[in-house]
Amino acid sequence: MRPRRPMRFGIQFKLVVGLLLIAIVPLLVSALLVDQIGEVAQNFASNEADRLRPPLVKAERAYRELVAARKAAYREAGRRIAGRLRGLPLWTPEVDVAAAQRELGRLLAQEEVARAVVTRADGTIVAQAVSDLLPGQPTGRWRDFTVVEPLVDGLRLELTFVARVDFLDDLEELGYVLAERRDVDAFRRGLPRSYRTAFLLLVGGVVVVVTAASLVLARRITRRVEQLAAGTREVARGNLAARVDVPGRDELGELSDAFNRMVEQLEQHRAQIGHLQKMSAWQDVARRLAHEIKNPLTPIQLAVQQVVSSYRGNDERYAAMLRDMQEIVEEEIAGLRRLVDAFRSLSRLPRAQPEPLDVAVVVADLAREPEFTDRLAVTPPADAVTVRGDRLLLRRLLANLVENAVHAAPDGRVYLAWERDGDVARVYVDDEGPGVPPDRRDAIFEPYITSKEHGTGLGLAIAKKIALDHGGDLALAPEPAPAGGARFVVTLPVAAPA
Ligand SMILES: Nc1ncnc2c1ncn2[C@@H]1O[C@H](COP(=O)(O)OP(=O)(O)OP(=O)(O)O)[C@@H](O)[C@H]1O
Ligand SMILES: [Mg+2]
Repeated sequence: MRPRRPMRFGIQFKLVVGLLLIAIVPLLVSALLVDQIGEVAQNFASNEADRLRPPLVKAERAYRELVAARKAAYREAGRRIAGRLRGLPLWTPEVDVAAAQRELGRLLAQEEVARAVVTRADGTIVAQAVSDLLPGQPTGRWRDFTVVEPLVDGLRLELTFVARVDFLDDLEELGYVLAERRDVDAFRRGLPRSYRTAFLLLVGGVVVVVTAASLVLARRITRRVEQLAAGTREVARGNLAARVDVPGRDELGELSDAFNRMVEQLEQHRAQIGHLQKMSAWQDVARRLAHEIKNPLTPIQLAVQQVVSSYRGNDERYAAMLRDMQEIVEEEIAGLRRLVDAFRSLSRLPRAQPEPLDVAVVVADLAREPEFTDRLAVTPPADAVTVRGDRLLLRRLLANLVENAVHAAPDGRVYLAWERDGDVARVYVDDEGPGVPPDRRDAIFEPYITSKEHGTGLGLAIAKKIALDHGGDLALAPEPAPAGGARFVVTLPVAAPA
């Protein structure tokens, strides 16, 4: 027995690992690729953003500078206008309201002024002019800009300038865009993390599902392999009756079928070899016995004859006893001679010399024997069947079978038929007798098993040996013959097609 292998990586383990690799590797590769693509896209996007940011920032700065410049310009304009108004003779001693009003009105027309008001120190209005632009204007942080300048005697001039609204809106939008950009950047930095989490979950799920599935699959396979292994161990132990039943139409199923066929053939061959060995031993014994028994038979017979014939007395009773004795001795000697003949023919069974031979030729030989001529019903097949056979031995084989058939049904017929089935020919010998009792099916092929008074029990044993010597076999069919009795089947190899 070979030592057990120290470490065992079972099919189960290999299958699980293999399937996991198959499932995970493409996932990892694609994840890596997607990661790479994501990175490239992100780089591209942030490059774009980086490229855009400076001009945007510059534009915003320009906008702020513009606003500041505008405010400075408005302040300057306020000072200039106030200086001019101060020089007009409108304020002392009394304010000439009507003239002042006119001057203020002119400001609306000439300058970018939407509202001009002159107030006293306490805030009361002395004179004012309001452009129809102003009341409907939306007011923003700086869209309207008011400048306050002193006039004379505590009077103050308030000027409200208005900037172009659409221009301001453009600049404001620029601010929004910059803010939005910052939001998008933050979001994009957060994206890869959530994508990786989802991928890890996916891989985990795949690992669980694949492991479970491959375990189930592997268990199915290993269970069946284990069955085959158990069958092999049985056979190795010598139990040729062992068979495996592995379900499934795959290779393992085929393997189990092949295994069963192989064991069946092994069993058959073992039985055949057993039969041939047994027959060879019997032939040995038969040769010696035939020799030992045959030699003294004639002297015994002669001595008894001499005793009987040399009696000259007239004791009738004694003479009768002598005749009885002679009869018994002659009868027993005849029986012994039959046995010796059987033993001799068994021990001298010639070697088979097979040659291409039409089965019909052997059957015709048989039909010519006077004791069989009227008993045989022969059904030849449509096409001749040529076997590799020894004409004399095959005739003897069939003669033994037909003889048994005649014994089984003394008034019945014996049916002979044959056919070719692939590489073998089958010859059927059927009778109309009672058949073979099930418990004697195997025993009848053993030498010296007989149910007949004058039988030797060698007929079937010799027939089987002849069949085996031809590379064929002889068997009793499991079912009765169509004629109702026993059916014996001779299997012979067909001659190689010429
Ligand atoms: N066709 C048959 N129908 C029924 N039983 C049979 C048939 N052929 C053989 N047997 C049984 O098988 C036994 C063995 O047969 P086998 O030919 O070996 O020996 P035998 O016929 O008894 O003796 P021998 O062949 O010397 O006359 C027979 O005694 C008989 O009981
Ligand atoms: Mg016989």
